[in-house]
Amino acid sequence: MRPKFDTPITRLFGIEYPIIQGAMAWLSEAKLAAAVSNAGGLGVMGAAIMSVEEFEVHVKEAKSLTDRPLAVNFPLVLGEYEKHLEMVLSHGIRIIFVSAGSPKLLTPRIKQAGAICVHVVPNLKLAKKVAEAGVDALVLESYEAGGHVAQEGITALVNIPNVARQVTLPLIAAGGVVDGRGLAAALALGAHAVQMGTRFLATRECNAHLNYKRLLLKAEEGEAVVYGHRWHPGRALRSPAVERILAIEAENQAVDAVRKFIGRGRARKAAHDGNLEEGMFYAGAGAGLINDEPTVAELFDQMLSEYAEVVQQLGRSI
Ligand SMILES: Cc1cc2nc3c(=O)[nH]c(=O)nc-3n(C[C@H](O)[C@H](O)[C@H](O)COP(=O)(O)O)c2cc1C
Repeated sequence: MRPKFDTPITRLFGIEYPIIQGAMAWLSEAKLAAAVSNAGGLGVMGAAIMSVEEFEVHVKEAKSLTDRPLAVNFPLVLGEYEKHLEMVLSHGIRIIFVSAGSPKLLTPRIKQAGAICVHVVPNLKLAKKVAEAGVDALVLESYEAGGHVAQEGITALVNIPNVARQVTLPLIAAGGVVDGRGLAAALALGAHAVQMGTRFLATRECNAHLNYKRLLLKAEEGEAVVYGHRWHPGRALRSPAVERILAIEAENQAVDAVRKFIGRGRARKAAHDGNLEEGMFYAGAGAGLINDEPTVAELFDQMLSEYAEVVQQLGRSI
């Protein structure tokens, strides 16, 4: 029998399981997000740098694939995020995740529209700041995460309890969770749900190019590395582009050399074209633990039964 959950996050979002699929630039599109919501978690569509019109296509499609709660994510580096926000509100999206920017920009309008505002933060300092701005919940993204990570590199074992002790908001832990053990650990550390990116990348419903999935499935421990330490760190699988960046950094070249080399469009080249030479294949430290490509429904089955087993074992050991 599947475990039942009742946490501040399952209640806030009206979902069955405390499992959230994190936004992934070019990879968290309608089919994946709807499958996660249909499985009883929460699917989040990432706008990344899509135009309002491009993103609207995904929002409409996802709405047609599920009648369960669905969410969107805007990185505030987007030029037109107010227009994105009005568009998703007009389609009845009521859960908005915001990352990379000030919580003062969108929170008032999201709250005024009666929607739920969730902010992504990497540490306690920023968790306190977004709590003051009146957001409804936090995603705490620790250093294990795929995609962009914070320079100070705080890992989940320390980050989650630190924030859980000092900030009373509903807390979603992101970074390094790929299975039922990870879910149990995050909840034990004080989180009320987990957000996973990398694990969902290797599911049937994710639109990632075959080369991306192959690279991820064959990755071993330690192959999702952090680059850009002195500029804008990110965690990605080792590839020619990442090796080049690490070499530039090892040569101690000016920070601008890394920025120039990365340029624009490498995430999309990986996600959609599977370009092994030029693409940046973002993935979390948990990549080495992933070696299958289930459907989202199968993944929920695996995770939830492993979670139940781990919790029972822990109970028996006292
Ligand atoms: C390929 C990829 C792209 C991502 N793009 C975004 C993004 O556009 N916006 C965002 O807020 N987070 C982004 N993330 C972070 C995820 O939403 C999630 O928090 C993270 O993947 C959790 O860590 P995990 O990969 O170890 O599960 C991305 C992660 C990955 C792996």
